[in-house]
Amino acid sequence: MRHKITVVGAGNVGATCAQRLAERNYADVVLVDIVPNMPQGKALDIMQAGPIYGYDTLVIGTNGYEETAGSDVVVITSGLPRKPGMSRDDLLFANMDIVKSVVQNISKTSPNAVLIVVTNPLDAMSQLAWQVSGFPAERVMGMAGVLDTARFRTFLAMELKVSVSDVSAHVLGGHGDTMVPVPELTTIGGVPVSHLLTDERFEEIAQRTRDGGAEIVKLLNTSAWYAPSAAVVEMVDAILLDKKKVLPVCALLRGQYGIKDLYVGVPAKLGHKGVEEIVEVRLTEKQRAELQKSVDAVKENWDKMTAKL
Ligand code: LAC
Repeated sequence: MRHKITVVGAGNVGATCAQRLAERNYADVVLVDIVPNMPQGKALDIMQAGPIYGYDTLVIGTNGYEETAGSDVVVITSGLPRKPGMSRDDLLFANMDIVKSVVQNISKTSPNAVLIVVTNPLDAMSQLAWQVSGFPAERVMGMAGVLDTARFRTFLAMELKVSVSDVSAHVLGGHGDTMVPVPELTTIGGVPVSHLLTDERFEEIAQRTRDGGAEIVKLLNTSAWYAPSAAVVEMVDAILLDKKKVLPVCALLRGQYGIKDLYVGVPAKLGHKGVEEIVEVRLTEKQRAELQKSVDAVKENWDKMTAKL
């Protein structure tokens, strides 16, 4: 039997995720949205590219959850995107009720699924999804670090005029203005970035990465979707194909990095069980302090949200 992946939210991010996943040709895809006819139309359109592109993926569009039953992986993209001038945190209350209701439905129809949350503010929404689903924490995670790291790698490759595939990096912390690109984890073809860039230039590129989402919102009047959907698919690949890939993932920390009971971005091993291991890297004092600042920002969102739950 083929695997089944559900994507909830058929907007730019969700629909592009469905397209990329259909092209992987390893699972059937269910695309859910509350807007009548829209997910059905997009699903048909994606399926009709199959004969040309060479995939046999069944893509079902629906306004309900019946068709999602028994999904292996569920990607949650539903919610409002940012407008220019908005931070990801400004979406907290608007998106909280949406994600809560999606997770209540999904946890009933797909009790064994791995959940990947994409809705912003990402860290708090991942924590919410974990709490509402009642799933073990290894099966609930958020996508942000892969995207932030991809942006960082792109900017570094542009700066150094090297192949992006030579740039290896990890961006830790929350998916917000306080995210932490770590120089010690950044290499160019195996060469530490500190050999190739000054600290000042590294910091400028790190700042462009922190502002990477907002840079696109300013240009497009809405959030990005090509890179976010590609990041989701890298995580789905790692899970469905049991790759044991170490990626930056928003995961529940239970004492790792000195952080307890909070979802935040860290390197983690992804395999068929979901988050199979949190990888603890040694951080400098400065990075610990930066990570703590990021954790405080994530915690502030979560506290605001729990007050309204
Ligand atoms: C971004 C949104 C997806 O960073 O948070 O583009």
